[in-house]
Parts: sequence; structure tokens; C-alpha cells
Amino acid sequence: MSWTLPLTDLELSEEDVAAYIGVLESGWLTMGPRTREFERAFAERFGVAHAVALSSGTASLHLALLAASIGEGDDVLVPAMTFVAGAAAVRYCGARPVLVESLGPEDLNLDPVDAERRITPSTRAILATHWLGYACDLAALERLCLEHDLVLIEDCAQSVTARDGGGRLTGTVGAAGCFSFFSKKQLAVGEGGMILTSEEAIAEKARSLRSHAMTSMTWDRHRGHAESYDIVDVGFNFRMDEPRAALGLSRLSRVDADIARRRKLVHRYREQLRDLPDLIIPWSDEDVERSSHFGFAILLANEAARAALVSELTGSGIQTTHYPSLTALTAYRDQPPCPRTEELAGRHLLLPLASNYTEREVDLVATEVKRIMATSAAHAG
Ligand SMILES: Cc1ncc(COP(=O)(O)O)c(C=O)c1O
Repeated sequence: MSWTLPLTDLELSEEDVAAYIGVLESGWLTMGPRTREFERAFAERFGVAHAVALSSGTASLHLALLAASIGEGDDVLVPAMTFVAGAAAVRYCGARPVLVESLGPEDLNLDPVDAERRITPSTRAILATHWLGYACDLAALERLCLEHDLVLIEDCAQSVTARDGGGRLTGTVGAAGCFSFFSKKQLAVGEGGMILTSEEAIAEKARSLRSHAMTSMTWDRHRGHAESYDIVDVGFNFRMDEPRAALGLSRLSRVDADIARRRKLVHRYREQLRDLPDLIIPWSDEDVERSSHFGFAILLANEAARAALVSELTGSGIQTTHYPSLTALTAYRDQPPCPRTEELAGRHLLLPLASNYTEREVDLVATEVKRIMATSAAHAG
């Protein structure tokens, strides 16, 4: 399918391309000095002591959970409205994800009250996703963690640079913040991830496990800093490589400008689609200022209304997407239902958004949405 307007787009600058090619020309491709530089710059940008670069966001969730000693017999609260990676990472550790409801149409993030209801003596952690770039109620989750002795891990795959109601950067509040640099994310390098943490022990464990728990790295041996190595645990190959680290470093310098452009487009969507009957736009204008805008969501009256809109938009070459509630997935059918999330999952729709899209393109989508909804209202009437 060739779209007039795909769901998202990625535009690399000349500096990005030069940074990437520069690494190819250097002759050193596996994890080394540029990865360390990317980690240093990322940690500094967020004002956190440690950043550990990894091969994906999923790897960052997996290692953050292992580093927090989550394992067999443990339950971890995970929102039902998220991408499956977090729940899968809990299962990689031998622990059990326990799915939690979304708040509602005004805020699709996980509901701290429902989370508390699902706490049992086996609950050890909350893995909170900042959905679509909007921060969860971190203050409420911190309180829950304190009261019930739980570890808070933040899934920031969609929320790089987003802030919560108290102005705190997502990923800097919990024991660890887990980021993704997947192609469709705001800070994209293709595949990649990062753990942010102020806890030395978590950083150390993640650094060790990302490279087979080896006591020295190939780069150290290349520089003559080590001759051999020991293996002190069962680790993984979750290393980031140098071209992607160089690309990440280059893109990090522009991430605020890219997100400011996304925010402008989200404001435009909201102006255009505000007050339409049978259409809700989650979150408030104030939330928009704090979000980092992975996606722009609307909620339709029901699943049939969404299907009709998707079909017409597809016909006009406009790509959209929506996520299932995890409770609807075959591999998660053993979970207690989350009816509120299932209902919201059936009604929401993400419209195209990218930092290089223009207000004209947003207007085109909004005009189509309004035309299609007016036509179906006329038919229904
Ligand atoms: C909320 C969320 N968590 C985790 C991930 C996993 O990240 P990655 O694809 O880099 O493994 C993604 C995206 O893919 C995501 O959207």
C-alpha cells in the first residue's frame, strides 16, 4: 500500500547521516567509545547518574526487571493498554504480569486505584508505561510503591523528554527508566534502547548482563586494557553498536525541536477536531504541553464507528493504527479481564503524526475525519 500520508515518518538530517558514515569509516562497529559518549550525553540530558545503552527497548525492560531482582514467584503490575514488550519482559524473568485498567477516555494511562486493587503478597513491582508520550500519575504510583514496598520501573519507550504533573522527566522517578530508539519512536536510530537509573547497583547489573556478564569488553581488550575475561552470570548479547550510538547522539541534540514540532501539530489537530459530536480527544491542553507526542489519539463512539472511519481514511490514503488491550491477545487470555481498557482499545484511533509533517497535512486529515463523520451522522439520522 502506498499511503498519501503514512502514520509516521522519519527524516534524517545531513548531520545524522555524516555521524553514521563517520563510524563506518572508523572501522570500529561494536560497542565502544561512541556508545559511551551517547550514554554520557543521555544521562546528562536527564540529570541522572547512569545510562546503559542497549539493543532495544525490550532489552532495557528485561534487564531493568532482572537488575531489580524480579524473578520466579513475583507478580508485576503492567497496564493492559500498552505494547506487549513490558508484559513479555516480565515473563522472560519468570515472573507473572498482572494487567491493570486504564483510567478512562480522558486519560488512557494506567489507573493507580485499579493497580492498588490488584496488589497481593506476590506483587513486587509496577511497570508503568507513559502511553503515547503522556506521563502516568507518577506521584500516585510512587505512593503505592512506598506503601506496599514495590519497585517502580518506568516504560518510557514512547515518552522520551515527557514530564509528569510535578514537572519531573519520565524515566527519572522510578528505580529505572526504560527507553526505546525503535524506528517509529521520537528518538529513532532503527533499533536501540537505554536504561536510566540513579542506582549504581542497577546500572552495574544491566551493564554486566548486556554483554554475557563478561568481566572485560572487546573494546577494552582492543585497547590493551584487558587480555582475558571471566563470566560471572548468565547474560545476553543486548549491546548497542557504534553506528546506532552515533546516530542517537546526533538525534539527541535535535529531539527537543522535533518534539516541539509534534506538539504544534497536536495542538492543530485538537483545534480542528474539538467539539465534534461522538469524538473525544484524550488528555487536556495542559497535558499536551508536558507530553512528548509519540502519537495522536482520538476516541470514537464505538468499534463500528472506528472501523467505518478507518476504512474511509484508508481509501483516502491516510494510515491510522490502534492497539489491542493485552487481555485480548491469545498469549494473555489467562489474565482477568480489563473491561474498561477493552472498551477504550476498541474505540481509540491514532492519526498520522511525525515531526516533519506540516499543519497542512494535519488539516487534510482533520478535514477528512470531519467529512466522514458528518456523512455517517447524516446516514444515521
Ligand atoms: C510502550 C512500549 N514499550 C516497549 C516497547 C519496545 O521497544 P523496542 O521495540 O525498542 O524493543 C515499545 C515499542 O516498540 C513500546 O511502544
